[in-house]
Amino acid sequence: MTSEALTELAKRRGFFFGTAGAYGGVAGFYTYGPEGAALKRNVESAWRDRFTVREGNEEIEAPTILPEPVFEASGHLDTFNDMLVECPECGESHRADHLVEDVTDLEDAESLPIPEIEALIADHEITCPNCGAPLAGESVEEFNLMFETTIGPGGDQSGYLRPETAQGIFIEFPRLKEYARNSLPFGITQIGPAYRNEISPRRGLVRTREFTQAELETFVDPERDEPDLAAVEDVEVRLYSAVEQSAEDGELVEMTIGEAVAENVVTSPWVAYYLGVAQQWFERIGVDMDRFRFRQHLAGERAHYASDCWDAEAELDGNWIEIAGFSYRSDYDLSKHAEYADDDFTVFQQYDEPKTVERAVVDPDMSVLGPEFGGAAGDVADALDALAARDPAAFEGETVTVEVDGDSYTVDVDVTNFAVEEQTVNGEHVTPHVVEPSFGVDRVVNTVFAHAYEEDEVDGEERTYLALGPEVAPTTVAVFPLVTNEPEIVEISRSLVDDLRAAGLSVNYDDSGNIGRRYRRQDEVGTPYCVTVDHESVEREGAVTVTVRERDTTAQVRVPVDDLPAELDALRRGERSFADLQSAYERVTEA
Ligand code: GAP
Repeated sequence: MTSEALTELAKRRGFFFGTAGAYGGVAGFYTYGPEGAALKRNVESAWRDRFTVREGNEEIEAPTILPEPVFEASGHLDTFNDMLVECPECGESHRADHLVEDVTDLEDAESLPIPEIEALIADHEITCPNCGAPLAGESVEEFNLMFETTIGPGGDQSGYLRPETAQGIFIEFPRLKEYARNSLPFGITQIGPAYRNEISPRRGLVRTREFTQAELETFVDPERDEPDLAAVEDVEVRLYSAVEQSAEDGELVEMTIGEAVAENVVTSPWVAYYLGVAQQWFERIGVDMDRFRFRQHLAGERAHYASDCWDAEAELDGNWIEIAGFSYRSDYDLSKHAEYADDDFTVFQQYDEPKTVERAVVDPDMSVLGPEFGGAAGDVADALDALAARDPAAFEGETVTVEVDGDSYTVDVDVTNFAVEEQTVNGEHVTPHVVEPSFGVDRVVNTVFAHAYEEDEVDGEERTYLALGPEVAPTTVAVFPLVTNEPEIVEISRSLVDDLRAAGLSVNYDDSGNIGRRYRRQDEVGTPYCVTVDHESVEREGAVTVTVRERDTTAQVRVPVDDLPAELDALRRGERSFADLQSAYERVTEA
């Protein structure tokens, strides 16, 4: 299956297409049509069900624009850059590291310094993919990916469209921890748009400038909290570790999550836990597990906040595409916001039993410090207090020196009344570590769409269908009146549509063209079940029955209309299979 055929299907059947075609288009933006919007909504609901509801987490919704200081603190202003090279002939911008990767064996060229990238462009005589002009000798620049804007009419407050939903969670940590009753671990999720001014958006939904993320930030005490590994220890995963990637004959290794932790292939049990949960979730929504793997980031590839990271990757058109990332962000984010913001980003962790600890304290003699240091005396006393807590050894000599506003003050240790005291403490302030599963919803939708694509032959005719699972399919059931000129058949069909919609199912009513054509239309958009109301529905004695046809096998079964809403709802929820339905009701042999 070529990506062109998929793009054509996506456009023709209303899944997704480039935005503003009527205005010549705008690179990096996509619009979801009715089928695609429903598919995306269903993927998001499945994610919410697994990562918010079933994990016992809470979901928030933060603004998409945040003020500049947030991104100063997070490091995005300084480091969220890609390498840009501009063609001297046509002016087209390109990601310099991607151009290098395209012509070398390098997989993480973004980790190389700019002079090396410039040298590789020259050595490999790389040319502009747009017009063919040589790029050797062109300077490579750091380009910040954030979209900048101004907040308010005066234009003097700078803001940025968020490049990840995560920051909206981190900056509210002081309130969110109270909501979690100051108790670790707890998780906060968010599904919403993120924006990156990508240098060269490409491959349809894969690299866009506005996309949707579904992120979970789990806040843990690194010393005490452990994930429920037993729940996923038997889940089989395919891992491509950094060690294997660096080895000459490195390969994918298949093992269980339990083995991956025991053998230290995945060092963080929290990351391993989420790999297991994600593997099961990806399978549930229809990602082909033969075209799926987890790959560990190489050291130079990791984002500025991550101490370890594994990507979920799916194979599309012969390329491995990152569709989700699982990062151990340590205390990087909360410590940074604590440094820049004016609030408490720690959690007070109560000990099970009070502990007796030794604490270095000072009680400076202000009758000496006052006359000696004047207005600075109070700050000098505070600095001595902080130094005693931080570095008691500094008080071992006869004098001790502290810095206040760039000036040094030396004090006799006797005057500080330095002492080491025993104190009873009930707990301590901990800056939580963050473990983050982060999903690119559009890339997941794209994968589910591409992996569902099937071609076969039905009744001697070629057929294209999307084998989407009932949970994510845009439409669960299509209802067809066999003919439109028999009022009773139309009435039963219409009333069935109402009953199915009242049961919460997504229903399509189609009465145009012959039945075969209607089946093909639904097959192509992945509708798992089609119901036909025919003459037998009207003429048979007893309960009104209709035929239900399953998309993939085209098998049919006759079911009473009164049972249908509950039966189809059970199929959609995965509580029942079509084979169960066939056992319970009358199979129909196709003519
Ligand atoms: N908070 C962590 C974070 O943002 P990331 O790896 O930069 O990590 C997470 O992004 C996910 O977002 C990726 O795994 C990918 O699926 C998706 N993503 C990133 N950039 C994207 C883009 N330009 N277009 C579409 N999806 C993108």
